[in-house]
Amino acid sequence: MLELFPDTARIDVGELSLGGMRASGLAGQFGTPLYVYCEATLRGRAREIRAAVPDALVFYGSKAFPNVAVLRLMADEGIGADVSTLGELALARAAGIEGEQLVVHGNAKADEELRAAAESGATVVLDGDEAERAATAGVRRVLVRVTLGVEADTHEAIRTGHHGSKFGLPPDHALRTVEAALALDLEVAGLHIHVGSQLADTSGHLETIDLLARFAVRCRAELGWTPELVNVGGGFGIRHVLEEREAPLGELAAEVAEAVARSWGEHGLAAPRLMLEPGRALVGQAGVTLYRVLNVKRLDGVTWVAVDGGISDNPRPELYGARYTALSASRADQPATETVSIAGLHCESGDVLIDDVSLPPPRPGDLLAVPATGAYTLAMSSNYNATPRPAAVLVAGGEARVVRRRETLDDLLALEVW
Ligand code: LLP
Repeated sequence: MLELFPDTARIDVGELSLGGMRASGLAGQFGTPLYVYCEATLRGRAREIRAAVPDALVFYGSKAFPNVAVLRLMADEGIGADVSTLGELALARAAGIEGEQLVVHGNAKADEELRAAAESGATVVLDGDEAERAATAGVRRVLVRVTLGVEADTHEAIRTGHHGSKFGLPPDHALRTVEAALALDLEVAGLHIHVGSQLADTSGHLETIDLLARFAVRCRAELGWTPELVNVGGGFGIRHVLEEREAPLGELAAEVAEAVARSWGEHGLAAPRLMLEPGRALVGQAGVTLYRVLNVKRLDGVTWVAVDGGISDNPRPELYGARYTALSASRADQPATETVSIAGLHCESGDVLIDDVSLPPPRPGDLLAVPATGAYTLAMSSNYNATPRPAAVLVAGGEARVVRRRETLDDLLALEVW
């Protein structure tokens, strides 16, 4: 199961270690639940995609884990940021990411956001009749997001390129938006697509890229304009359980780059510069969540192992039916002889992190490690049941540093007004 964990994961004297740090040491020092990120894995994935598509511009889809330290680490690896709110923009700017390293998205951008984007010199992706508002806000450089009616093979909540999607513009509308932006003297640098998320292969991308090339031909014919940049979004999946397919980031990115070059060539268009926005694939496997077992209930037919977190730190099982697995971090060498369900602590029956996983017979006090939880976990966490959010630490070379501190009860009380 270690292949689901970060690259530095080891089992030493019966215990899981990450980045040279023992799980029990991390839990003891920083408390649980705890998000542990492996620096070597973050850098490894960043280097993998940069090496696979050396000519492309890569932007970290920061919604997967909007964190200043991780954004800085990505910037250090030559990767910019894709942001979709004023908050994500603020974090990226705090990480020193500005100008052409920054792409601003959103199907509902406030004027304040457009002004902040303009101030930071970001490229703004138009997703509606907002060219004039963008120009008024001082934005200079834009892309236009096109939706080409492709049903990507993923959960419907994270499919974005289909007909009727709330994201992007169908071709006729996108064409008028390019025209409007050109008339306003905006630098219309190119086109954007994003077909969906957690995709195990590139079939959705490839189908969309071909349609996009046809759309580019139409833009050239009708507007005398050709995109210099083609942003194919993110969407590369990761493996959360062994039954899921591997989705090697470098290979998938290279397939997409080849498809763009091929489609553009076939349609007699000059090769554009490629932009990519991977989120999950850069941070997902680097992150592990550590939980403490609080309660074990052996009932007829099911053993409930209740931990000190749940949907407040990872809503994905409930939202998308996402599957995870777990390892007994404190007894990693013992045979996994009991099939259990891992429950969260929250007050609803849907708060089940894992339906069915084998562990050494569990006991209160055990430490569990859930791999492949680096993306869309802390990012989507909540204070449900007035639960403070966990901390995140970055581990490398036997050292750990907090990159997001644990929330406290005082943080929660500080927001109350009475
Ligand atoms: N670019 C755009 C315009 C996006 O909308 C997204 C994700 C990305 C890039 C990054 O996609 P990724 O490489 O991470 O798949 N909360 C959901 C995922 C929502 C993804 C939204 N957009 C989940 O937990 O699965």
